[in-house]
Amino acid sequence: MDVEIVGRMLSTLPPDDDHPYRTGPWRPQTTEWRADDLPVAGELPPDLDGVYLRNTENPLHPAIGRYHPFEGDGMIHLVGFRDGKAFYRNRFVRTDALLAETEAGESLWVGLAERADKGKRTDGWGARGHLKDSSSTDVVVHNGQVLSSFYECGDLYALDAMTLEPRGKADWHGAFPRDRGVSAHPQVDEHTGEMLFFNYNAKAPYLNYGVVDDKNRLVHYVPIELPGPRLPHDMTYTENYAILNDLPMIWDPGLMSRGMFLARFHPELPTRIGVLPRRGAASEIKWFSFDPTYVLHWTNAYEVGDEVVVEGFFQHNPEPSIAPDASYYERINRFISLDGFESRLHRWRMNLVTGECSEESLTDSITEFGMINAQHGGRAHRYTYAATGVPGRFLFNGLTRHDSVTGAEVHYSLADGVFGSETAVAPRPGAKSEDDAYLVTIVTDMNSDSSAALVFHAANIDDGPIARVELPERVSSGTHSTWAPGSDIPGWRDQSPAEAAARL
Ligand SMILES: [Fe+2]
Repeated sequence: MDVEIVGRMLSTLPPDDDHPYRTGPWRPQTTEWRADDLPVAGELPPDLDGVYLRNTENPLHPAIGRYHPFEGDGMIHLVGFRDGKAFYRNRFVRTDALLAETEAGESLWVGLAERADKGKRTDGWGARGHLKDSSSTDVVVHNGQVLSSFYECGDLYALDAMTLEPRGKADWHGAFPRDRGVSAHPQVDEHTGEMLFFNYNAKAPYLNYGVVDDKNRLVHYVPIELPGPRLPHDMTYTENYAILNDLPMIWDPGLMSRGMFLARFHPELPTRIGVLPRRGAASEIKWFSFDPTYVLHWTNAYEVGDEVVVEGFFQHNPEPSIAPDASYYERINRFISLDGFESRLHRWRMNLVTGECSEESLTDSITEFGMINAQHGGRAHRYTYAATGVPGRFLFNGLTRHDSVTGAEVHYSLADGVFGSETAVAPRPGAKSEDDAYLVTIVTDMNSDSSAALVFHAANIDDGPIARVELPERVSSGTHSTWAPGSDIPGWRDQSPAEAAARL
């Protein structure tokens, strides 16, 4: 391995830290690496060509009050595959807040679990208006650039898709909605080059929906009427429609007026799914009501005749009960462990002509963080690849492939002490079938204090990985990932990864 350290951030976290999401598999990284010619066990297919990207939370300073795992500083990991070889880069997302806290040498903003007025800075970003935008939730590639995002809305930070060098914030020719930001899960439609997004806020308008085209122009942006502030986390789309939602998980209004944000589930209210033409006026949205639940992530949507079909993860227990004397650490896990909220793959159907709708559970298996072959985004898909969770923790211990035609499921379990990340689908160039693809994930291996990227054949995950690529340092667990083919990355074939890094 040809490896060098290219950066290091100063951490002021105490050596005896005991927070479960700043230690163990969540131990933050502070070092930035360039590593080429990574050691490979097995064989990397030469036609695996592109980059796997993952966002992680890596807090540098003790939180003001309580720390929540989703507020740590964003760090993007890139594992690139080219000509049967692999390379690795990682970079902190140099957010405005990270730079301010680095200068101060301490945390300035409160996190998700604290009162707004406890912060040293009470300005800020996000749906609540006072949060630190840590850009640590999702990562997508749009128009050849990596974009990182924050789940309670913020800026989109751009990074080079080969080197991860910072490229500023998404600006959209001056039209980026700085007052509201963009929520975690913008959706890139490979067929049109568009990026669909939304933002939400505690103040009206509670939801805005927008479209950015393949020239980074904001070509559509409309407020969507909701009965009050909501906590939408994800959206999806079909060829012709954007799919938005109004879910009965609502900030407690009494607490909110006192600067505290606590989400409560309201089983007396329906789940509402909104179907809007992708460039439609707000008045064109059609709402359909379903059984109450919370959906953290949708997997896809598509059209069949007059119907719009949506798939995602239905939480069967959106507000898990907990002992009254539970510690804060136990309370954190309540809302973020898969077995706690019992998320199962689910399908909702909506007839746009008759207004009829129906829904069905697709499996008994508890999974989340599902990915499909993105070439099928907005079009009918067959396979979903999703994570299984460690009971009581936000950690992934395996991978399940769900066949939505037959209902069959195949599972691959990671070894004890080994934790995966969201697994991305890398279609083979010229593939003739949906699962003629590779899967890529990063594992955090506590047994060997190391990390690796694993590559699977999408059609045979139960055979285990076909290649294991060693990374220079153990990667912290984190949140979302994506795959971008080399053909989408400017300059991908013009120079080697090492040459690209040397030019910086
Ligand atoms: Fe998410």
